[in-house]
Amino acid sequence: MSFDLVLFGGTGDLAWRKLLPGLLQAHRHGTLPAGGRIIGVAREELNDAQYRALIRERLAEVDSDKRPSPQESARFAALLHYQRMDLTQPGDYARLKARLDERGADVVVMYLATAPQLFTTACEQLDAAGLATPRTRVVLEKPLGHDLASNQAINAAVRAVFGEQQIFRIDHYLGKPSVQNLLALRFGNALFEPWWRRETIASIEITIAEQLGVEARGAFYDQTGALRDMVQNHALQLLCAIAMEPPINADADAIRDEKLKVLRSLLPWTPERLTQDVVRGQYGAGQLAGQAVPAYRGETGVAPDSTTETFVALRTGIANWRWAGVPFYIRTGKRLAAREAHIAIHLRPTPHPIYRTPLVCGANRLVIHLQPRDGLALHLLAAAHEPRAGAGALDAPALTPVQLDLDFDQRFGAERVGAYERLLLDVIDGRLNLFVRADEQEAAWQWVEPILQLWRQQDARGERPRPYAPGTWGPGAASALVARDGNTWAEEC
Ligand code: BG6
Repeated sequence: MSFDLVLFGGTGDLAWRKLLPGLLQAHRHGTLPAGGRIIGVAREELNDAQYRALIRERLAEVDSDKRPSPQESARFAALLHYQRMDLTQPGDYARLKARLDERGADVVVMYLATAPQLFTTACEQLDAAGLATPRTRVVLEKPLGHDLASNQAINAAVRAVFGEQQIFRIDHYLGKPSVQNLLALRFGNALFEPWWRRETIASIEITIAEQLGVEARGAFYDQTGALRDMVQNHALQLLCAIAMEPPINADADAIRDEKLKVLRSLLPWTPERLTQDVVRGQYGAGQLAGQAVPAYRGETGVAPDSTTETFVALRTGIANWRWAGVPFYIRTGKRLAAREAHIAIHLRPTPHPIYRTPLVCGANRLVIHLQPRDGLALHLLAAAHEPRAGAGALDAPALTPVQLDLDFDQRFGAERVGAYERLLLDVIDGRLNLFVRADEQEAAWQWVEPILQLWRQQDARGERPRPYAPGTWGPGAASALVARDGNTWAEEC
């Protein structure tokens, strides 16, 4: 099968940090279908040779384990081509069409790694130029809008040109091996299902913590914030994977139907819940990993009086038979204590204590580690039978926390298919399972919208996000949020 992958934003950050390295890995693994062209599109005046040289230079800067050898880099560069375009100019689309018509590939992928303001124009122009054919697939990078209305407008414009089966909305978390493993774990094993419910589970925590700040994206991030950047998409997709009912099969729509039900069952926000159950934070200046780091408001591109949140913690729930009454906590932020993403499933205590050992904190939970390590840890209690003066060894064993640990990187090897590599191959092959449908996305926007409204009101009243020091787990109010239910975040015990 031949393909042409047109990469709009072909010289941008995402292209050389994620997309081209993903394609390079697929090329290396021999999984990229032969006979493909990758056509970078941007406004700069470059020819094919200059684009190849630029990308080879950039690829030499990627993580050392993914860095290509000169031979690999040369072989990969031979797939690269370049087309200069101004996305607002119809004539430029006509020239792109002429180039694509030269060979009439079986599949043409239009990857819009551009500012979302250009999505609508690009789709309309592709259509006008005769570039939206049944062979065409369009890939949209997040953010798809900045609120429900703008998301609906983009989706409507894209769907006026392409059928839903041709639209690939990326959430790169769905491509992570650890996230796919989460589904395999739940739906490939009978073990979990009987206790995967309110009767056994006390609460569920989803944490996506980063040590990085906003890097070179200050101007973008200042208009976005953690709720739009991480919660509306990545965190809610993780919540869906944990909470959804078993789909009838592994087809894209069967999975997406179940995720949609979860999103529509999220507890609606009331004014009380909004003020009690949402914490908005912003990092100040401080030290992280032995280095001085500036306050968020001192980052390049960020307004000096910005109220954009770099941290969110919230408490929600799912109104259905399986989950009624179980708190779901979501927490994400930048400049936190560690780069760490996990889902901690805290189990209910035994119904009647027969041991005299005081409650052991941290036991009785399943932690699904997503990154940096991909694994699973079941935290249990065992009878250690350590000698203890004055205690009868048999009638009062000392219960000690132990862990049953699975490390998937070790088990399957570190050289696993990365998120973008997997997702790009899926687009070329036309598999929609790991992409987000329009109705899912809209349900997620609808749910975050009241929080955005609340924060606008707080801004108008001069209320600022809660400050936190770099290298911590965010504002103290995030601990208080879970403590109210008698719970803790996983690292707290
Ligand atoms: C992106 C966000 O979607 O995900 C970034 O825009 C964030 O702000 C990134 O840093 C985190 O992705 P990962 O794969 O490093 O966890």
